[in-house]
Amino acid sequence: MSDASGASPAPPGAASPGAALPDAALPDAASPGPVAVVGTGVIGRSWLRVFARGGFPTRVFDPDSEQLARAVDWARTSALGDVHLGLCAYAEARAEERRITVCETLAEALDGVTYVQESGPETIAAKQSIYRELDAATAPEVVLGSSTSAHDMTAIARDLPGAGRCIVAHPVNPPHVIPLVEVLAGAETRPDVTASTLALLRRAGMAPVELDRYAPGFVLNRLQAAVLREAVSLVGAGVASPEVVDIVMRDGLGLRWALMGPFGTGHVNADGGVGSYYRMYGDAYRSIWQDLDPAPDFGNDVIDAIDEATTAMYGEDAVAALAAWRDRMVRRIIQLKAADPGPRPAPGSSDTKQ
Ligand SMILES: NC(=O)c1ccc[n+]([C@@H]2O[C@H](COP(=O)([O-])OP(=O)(O)OC[C@H]3O[C@@H](n4cnc5c(N)ncnc54)[C@H](O)[C@@H]3O)[C@@H](O)[C@H]2O)c1
Repeated sequence: MSDASGASPAPPGAASPGAALPDAALPDAASPGPVAVVGTGVIGRSWLRVFARGGFPTRVFDPDSEQLARAVDWARTSALGDVHLGLCAYAEARAEERRITVCETLAEALDGVTYVQESGPETIAAKQSIYRELDAATAPEVVLGSSTSAHDMTAIARDLPGAGRCIVAHPVNPPHVIPLVEVLAGAETRPDVTASTLALLRRAGMAPVELDRYAPGFVLNRLQAAVLREAVSLVGAGVASPEVVDIVMRDGLGLRWALMGPFGTGHVNADGGVGSYYRMYGDAYRSIWQDLDPAPDFGNDVIDAIDEATTAMYGEDAVAALAAWRDRMVRRIIQLKAADPGPRPAPGSSDTKQ
């Protein structure tokens, strides 16, 4: 086991750009307990930043030691990038780094933690196998959160003695930039586990939403899949090129959707609000829905054609630069929305009820 920086861990609770909630939201807020990040691919390495930045001593493990080393390196470079962007002070980036403990075994990573964020491969077999290990190797009070994008915790934790402390905590890529997390209990998950997961995520600077029941892909990936299905269908049917589809989303729908969802957007599309809008355009939407292709061709030929057109549009070898630009711009959008959150219902009005 080694500390990421070679130094001993700094005391938790230092100022963090990610921490959003007042400390009173947590039972032991002054000193958040250690957490483990298990699996350090695209998502796990970003969770690493979330927890370390949020003041949590963060133990990290991946069975692929090279991947683990790359992730810790990435986290360090990414934190220094934030200093460059003026998002945090150098001392904060260093404190974040010192909170990370790199572990050579899963057992080391789980030693003494209060919460585990699992970010292993997205197959039900892999999730079940990892959860068996996590359940066997941790004390019963440790909460086991999964980053799964689509699986039901009821299935992942089936027959586990500790199914009651297992829960989905599905982030948006990359979680160190986008705070939303979909939280969903399995059939066996205890209510106090849901409550403590929501509190812990908020303490880490995230903005969790709790879902009411399972549907494959939860909410985020179902919405994303619906849009992607139509984008693929439009290209396949020759209605528009991949470039035009991206432009329509980027410079049209997407500009509004960063401010309001499909219902809020509809609310503003007619002077009388969403009811008036949907009554006016309900038949038009029904007729378009009937015309949508439920399962367009998404074979290799289609993927190759989209790949070629998209690479031509954004440039060869542009993925890393685009990701960095995306992260910078998303943070600016978040800042803009925080500075001007828009009109809100008066407290106590019926509109505030959920
Ligand atoms: N990539 C996304 O956009 C995204 C977004 C939200 C959630 N997720 C979810 O996050 C999880 C991880 O996705 P990713 O994109 O980071 O995948 P990835 O392939 O980049 O990383 C997976 C990591 O898991 C490690 N691993 C393999 N076997 C393991 C084991 N037994 N125990 C622990 N770790 C193991 C691998 O070495 C690898 O580092 C998946 O469940 C995925 O659905 C992904």
